[in-house]
Amino acid sequence: MKAIEITEFGAPDVLRLVERPIPVPGAGEVLIRVAASGVNRPDVFQRKGAYAPPPGASDLPGLEVAGEIVGGAIDGPNPFGLKLGDRVCALLAGGGYAGYAVAPLMQCLPVPAGLTEIEAASLPETFFTVWSNVFDRAQLGAGEGGADEILLVQGGSSGIGVSAIQIARALGFRVFATAGTDEKCRACEQLGAERAINYKTEDFVEVIKSLTHGRGVDVILDMVAGSYVPRELSVLADGGRLVVIALLGGATAELNLGEILRRRLTLTGSTLRPRSVAFKAGIAAQLKARVWPCLEDGRIKPVVYQVFPASQAAAAHALMESSTHVGKIVLDWRTLV
Ligand SMILES: NC(=O)c1ccc[n+]([C@@H]2O[C@H](COP(=O)([O-])OP(=O)(O)OC[C@H]3O[C@@H](n4cnc5c(N)ncnc54)[C@H](OP(=O)(O)O)[C@@H]3O)[C@@H](O)[C@H]2O)c1
Repeated sequence: MKAIEITEFGAPDVLRLVERPIPVPGAGEVLIRVAASGVNRPDVFQRKGAYAPPPGASDLPGLEVAGEIVGGAIDGPNPFGLKLGDRVCALLAGGGYAGYAVAPLMQCLPVPAGLTEIEAASLPETFFTVWSNVFDRAQLGAGEGGADEILLVQGGSSGIGVSAIQIARALGFRVFATAGTDEKCRACEQLGAERAINYKTEDFVEVIKSLTHGRGVDVILDMVAGSYVPRELSVLADGGRLVVIALLGGATAELNLGEILRRRLTLTGSTLRPRSVAFKAGIAAQLKARVWPCLEDGRIKPVVYQVFPASQAAAAHALMESSTHVGKIVLDWRTLV
């Protein structure tokens, strides 16, 4: 099969189209003929040597694919009734930049009705991450603010951000977002953010306090961290939860822990990739029940910014690093397999 390999750590041009053997599915895994694979920022970190695959995962980059199940034994637990020939999208721990990929059956979901494989390939990594952090870990809607809780999404125009805004909005929550240009802010608002804040020209602390009449937000999904963290604690409502999923702004911060005690705040975070198949299967079940219906009735729309032929993975990474995109970048394998 054709695959995109990281030949050495470095700039986008270390990504090369190579021949590799088709992977062999193990117990509980299926073989997928890949139509499309999503590009995520963690792939860029992996290419640079800053994000190693977990033990046992493919060395090829790629955390999500969509395509057709063409092999593997479908004899274990199969909550969505999948079978050979079905179109699925799948969350992977690696190996998605290839003409074929193996995935645990429990991490495969049917392509939502009405969506293309290009669109479906853009979903798993960000949707699993958003669900597990905003709804499982930070419990949006189940805290002291009840059903009226408010979400702030930092990096609202990222792949993660466009997913978080739309899922929270579709489930009835108020959402604010930040982004780095006015154009990106308008895109966040079109996706359902009540107000997007250009963090380069506005102070998100001031704006959030003013928008919420001093109350603050209940949950913040944060990919910046660093010096943002104390400012974020200051705009959490009493009982609020800050969930950190990346450290784009740095890994250290100085905090006033008194604020956490006095106002019952929670500071937490997680990474999805090394978690168990059982954990990911639990998220898949929740996504299928709560989010797939919203994708199928159009309340949530995949945001695919640009599609590249898979052979141009380097150009896809260069675009991601330019941070000019809004939403997801996808590789198309259909002409290469
Ligand atoms: N923990 C997990 O399990 C997990 C899973 C998946 C992804 N992630 C992480 O989540 C992040 C987003 O991933 P992605 O694939 O969605 O990447 P992406 O589309 O490339 O988005 C990165 C975003 O960061 C924004 N950004 C950078 N500095 C910012 C700041 N100071 N304030 C607000 N936004 C800022 C950029 O927007 P501007 O250019 O407008 O600043 C850009 O939209 C990555 O760091 C990734 O590693 C974590």
